[in-house]
Amino acid sequence: MKYGLLSDIHANLEALNAVLEKFKEEQVEKNICIGDIVGYGANPNECVELIRNNDFECVAGNHDWAVIGKQDIEYFNKTAKESVIWTADALTGNNREYLEQFELTKEFPEFVIVHATILEPDKWKYIRTTLDAHRSFEKITKPVCFFSHSHVPIVFKERERPEFSFDMSINIEENTKYLINVGSVGQPRDKNPDACYSIYDTEEKRVEIKRVAYDIKTAQNKIIEADLPRSFAYRLETGE
Ligand SMILES: [Fe+2]
Repeated sequence: MKYGLLSDIHANLEALNAVLEKFKEEQVEKNICIGDIVGYGANPNECVELIRNNDFECVAGNHDWAVIGKQDIEYFNKTAKESVIWTADALTGNNREYLEQFELTKEFPEFVIVHATILEPDKWKYIRTTLDAHRSFEKITKPVCFFSHSHVPIVFKERERPEFSFDMSINIEENTKYLINVGSVGQPRDKNPDACYSIYDTEEKRVEIKRVAYDIKTAQNKIIEADLPRSFAYRLETGE
């Protein structure tokens, strides 16, 4: 099976379209979304509809929950709060209902997906260090856990002390567990502004983390025209 995995679209329609084009080229058989379809960007409805119409299997991100009132927004910073309020107001009833169906984790034969951590998926903590990874590995029963949330693609491999790498091509070895952050489609934060996505070919036993350039200017202009905080537009250019 060839899975296409993506996350953290953040209402960036131009980035999502570029990734969906790649999924087609790669002949992806199953589409997976690991949360945060909305928030920050100017096209929440269009992005939710594309995910729904392309039969994605999804889990919720913190922004998806915040905009439908399932998550308190007190812990968001000032501008993120503004975007939650703007998005909640912009979302159609149908799209809100669609987001309400999402669970926090989802299992597939070869892997599990979660936006933040498998330990406490509703606490929205980050997996950034080998210690964070170690704690998660103890709880993961599948060979691979795909996650996101930090918008930084990274791979942890289970060892007594987990190893990490920024490899973009990962061969999945037998009897080894992996935690793989699939990066962000619509708001990368690893200083690479290109949209990020992953392909998992379970026959080849290989995960590839890939990038595609998209029309950043248009996404930025829409954010500015929507009167959303301008920092959301500027950061797209530098991938921060
Ligand atoms: Fe996010």
